[in-house]
Amino acid sequence: MMPKSCCDGMGVEVRSRRVFCTSLCALAAAAALPGQAQTPNGGAKGPDPQPLKTTDVTRAQMPPGKVLDFRRLGAFYLLADDKGVFALTAVCTHRGCLVLSEGAAGFGCPCHDSAYNLQGEVTEGPAKRPLRHLSVKEVTPKGPLQVDISTTVPSDTRL
Ligand code: FES
Repeated sequence: MMPKSCCDGMGVEVRSRRVFCTSLCALAAAAALPGQAQTPNGGAKGPDPQPLKTTDVTRAQMPPGKVLDFRRLGAFYLLADDKGVFALTAVCTHRGCLVLSEGAAGFGCPCHDSAYNLQGEVTEGPAKRPLRHLSVKEVTPKGPLQVDISTTVPSDTRL
């Protein structure tokens, strides 16, 4: 099983931690995600023919502050804050690498060091645009959460 992130929970200052983890994370991700390595995709891959990704998580299992990694299912993260549950794409807006969770600090891109906060807003370039917020719904009332990776929603949308 792939580690959630080699950058989680180390309790070290974020910037130096990212520098340390850049190579390590890229290697781990490349090894664990064949075909989805940390290389810019440049839009070369077409859209996913099955954009609806059903998780094994319910809204009740998403207390505020939780961040779950679904890069393998569909290149997204599921998060929760005080307002509810939401999903962010894991695809960096600079050149398409998959960003890595850095816990409460947000997300970091191993390719060129862009950083995003937990709302998906850019905190450090070269990326200029925020991570896309994706549509989330319950498959059935109180049932598993489903993310539509083809549908962008406003950043304040919560389930
Ligand atoms: S692809 Fe993420 S910073 Fe360049």
